[in-house]
Amino acid sequence: MHHEQHEDATLESTLPCIDRSKALLTRCEALVPARTQTLAKGPGQYVRGVSPVFAQRGKGAHIWDVDGNRYLDYTMAVGPLVLGYGNDVVDAAIREQLNDGITFSLMHPLEVEVAELITEMVPSLEMVRYSKTGCDVTTAAVRLARAYTGKSTVLCCGYHGWHDWYIGTTDRSLGIPQQVRDLTYTFAFNDIESVRQSIDDDTAAIILEPMVVDEPNETFLHDLRELCTQRGIVLIFDEMWTGFRIARGGAQERFGVTADLVCYSKAIANGMPLSVLAGRADIMRLLDRDVFFFTTFGGEALSLAAARATMQVLRDEPVLAVIEQHGNILRDQLNALISDYGIEWLSVKGLGSRTMLAIARPMEEALLVKSYIHQELLRCGILWNGFHNLSYAHRAEDIEHTLEAYADVLPRLHNHMSHGKLADQLLGTPMEPVFRRTGNFNTRPRLGASA
Ligand SMILES: Cc1ncc(COP(=O)(O)O)c(C=O)c1O
Repeated sequence: MHHEQHEDATLESTLPCIDRSKALLTRCEALVPARTQTLAKGPGQYVRGVSPVFAQRGKGAHIWDVDGNRYLDYTMAVGPLVLGYGNDVVDAAIREQLNDGITFSLMHPLEVEVAELITEMVPSLEMVRYSKTGCDVTTAAVRLARAYTGKSTVLCCGYHGWHDWYIGTTDRSLGIPQQVRDLTYTFAFNDIESVRQSIDDDTAAIILEPMVVDEPNETFLHDLRELCTQRGIVLIFDEMWTGFRIARGGAQERFGVTADLVCYSKAIANGMPLSVLAGRADIMRLLDRDVFFFTTFGGEALSLAAARATMQVLRDEPVLAVIEQHGNILRDQLNALISDYGIEWLSVKGLGSRTMLAIARPMEEALLVKSYIHQELLRCGILWNGFHNLSYAHRAEDIEHTLEAYADVLPRLHNHMSHGKLADQLLGTPMEPVFRRTGNFNTRPRLGASA
């Protein structure tokens, strides 16, 4: 499929040729419902008809599509690639493990070694279990919290995966019984009152992403911690994004708050499928017998070898400092550009290693804006869909190139928006929202918010 003459095709002013992506998508649509296995990298998250759909390979901070076009990647496999594609140390560790085998009839020493490394990097963690997806461990954490407290309801804030207990709170809950939906409620980030009002005597767990867009205010996570301790509620941090990214010890270290249970995935193994449930020994010990959590591939060794290598690099090299510094430069200079152009409804938020464009417009219009920027950045050889997920392989010159590209796109965006003509500029189908409504689904009925 890969034709050498297409390699490193210059994209400067024209949109890439995506014929092979289009042909594959047609075959895909006949066989694969929803087309994609990972919503955030599917064709609905890019401008259809314009954007590449299928990847051929990746190296460093770059991805090549099946038509041979090369892009600087800001999606980075939706999170895992903290060191970049094809990191030499991680790849060597995977190859070396492959010589011995992938998965066995007995346990593998890496199950112990990786647990030791995790508890060394995040000292508050006392015990560790593995699984394959983020969902596996958020669901296991919720079950553990229910088992430990003898209570049933869950309060959550953020995205926690496709399992019933969480996705039942959203508008994509078909197939989930009302009885299950009635057990999970959401609360608003940085709003301790919304949590206080939602807690009752049956609250087993509070699970949240400790940071997505805004940093937690000075008191929020500390107040949550105190509230959970007072009310006998298990505090769970969903650190799929923050873990091994915003500090070696993740959000717990960065914000100085210790959760009871913590869920990790993504960055811990630089692209190999591994998730981790860890936390307090007295809660985790319930997994010894009465809380059942086992799976065929839990101790699969290639992923554990990748995790060991990734954590060693994170420990021994200034990875997190570098990605944060690059990301902060990108965020701050981009915000300066936006303010120079007087685009009041646009800003870049987040912490260095993961920042995102915040578009203060109604959803339909915000999707048009995102779609336009995505389409125009493709012309500059940049694959972007709203986030800047930085890796150690993104260099200062990549950031500079990105800022130049934005400097070209933003005034045109502003101009088309001012004239109400942005939709005319799109050469394909705009991006789709993940949920039709966002935020504050299924808040506690007595909160008085619309359900
Ligand atoms: C914060 C968070 N929690 C949970 C999940 C679910 O993980 P997975 O998709 O691996 O099941 C994700 C996935 O993106 C996530 O971002």
